[in-house]
Amino acid sequence: TQAITVALLGGGTVGSQVARILTEDADMLAAKAGAPLRLAGVAVRSTDRRRDYQLPKGMYTTEAEPLIDGADIVVELMGGIEPARTLIEQALRDGKAVVTGNKALLARHGEELSAIAAEHGAQLAFEAAVAGAIPILRPLRDSLSGDRVTRIMGIANGTTNFILDRMDSAGADFADALAEAQELGYAEADPTADVEGHDAAAKVAILATLAFGTDYSIDEVSCEGITQITAADSAAAADAGYVIKLLGIAERRTGQDGAEGAVLRVHPTMVPREHPLAAVRGAYNAVYVEAENAGELMFYGPGAGGAPTASAVMGDVVSVAERLVRGGPARVRTSIASLPALDAEEAHTSV
Ligand code: NDP
Ligand code: HSE
Repeated sequence: TQAITVALLGGGTVGSQVARILTEDADMLAAKAGAPLRLAGVAVRSTDRRRDYQLPKGMYTTEAEPLIDGADIVVELMGGIEPARTLIEQALRDGKAVVTGNKALLARHGEELSAIAAEHGAQLAFEAAVAGAIPILRPLRDSLSGDRVTRIMGIANGTTNFILDRMDSAGADFADALAEAQELGYAEADPTADVEGHDAAAKVAILATLAFGTDYSIDEVSCEGITQITAADSAAAADAGYVIKLLGIAERRTGQDGAEGAVLRVHPTMVPREHPLAAVRGAYNAVYVEAENAGELMFYGPGAGGAPTASAVMGDVVSVAERLVRGGPARVRTSIASLPALDAEEAHTSV
């Protein structure tokens, strides 16, 4: 069988783990995809930097375009808007499948990217963009598409949960805990998006869009982060039998005129110690989904970090590769058309 060629853009926290899985689990991936997956190379800024998973030096390049030209699947894990946006657009215009975990890019330019993918019959997949390893977007979009989701609530940012947990369990200082989260690869390149709640707000808007079938923007999420929370606040909450968690909540509402809407918010919340969300430790995430017929569902697991996020990336890679091998029609993720624009300034509307 002819190999499927993969171009990897980014060899950092997540990209290194994708390179590792593509290398070490090649046989398993080939069996699942129906063809071998061949890593053509990794586009990076510096070819000299030591990687968490080191490939032979010749595998690294600062020239992304030639790598993309020779690929069937482009995996974008650079982060940021440019050059990621231009490179993804070009790949989609050439009909290549694109897998990305780039929340910032999807939130700003998802609609255009989706339109380009649709126009060129290309696949665009992004399960890794929300809640790390937890399969949450596909269940909302596919498995629950015959039900009516009424509410989503949960912990959708690993960095802030890690910081709050360190404060609660060890009385840690905010800055020390954030530095530890960065060291462990949980935080965004600019951790402001984590601690100000913008990353969680983007996820709430994305989840609501998929779950409620209506387009929601991050501008519609009222958002307060955890920068004002101190170890003393955490201790006071503990004395009262609570733990402070940064919750994201999306609730479907029907107005008096019968019009459907939703209330979307992110804010620190006093969670009773006995509540299941109080037990979500470290960089884990937990997302409750309530649906009319399904009842209550809970999705729980590692919400950030290299290997967990790479798991979600590889799920998409195998899925799009399988479709390329089968030669069936590309399944374009049209829901991305409505993803919200992540505008840090506008998003920071305190509740
Ligand atoms: P890192 O900052 O660790 O890695 C980014 C990689 O991209 C680096 O290898 C860097 O090269 C390369 N890169 C950046 N800019 C360029 C450029 N202009 N040209 C060529 N290469 C470039 O990021 P992460 O791996 O943590 O995150 C990657 C993406 O995944 C982001 O969109 C992030 O939001 C998303 N994500 C991350 C999660 C996590 O837990 N870390 C979880 C879910 C999603 P070099 O190494 O040479 O600097
Ligand atoms: N920075 C993000 C977090 C990565 O801490 O949750 C996963 O989306």
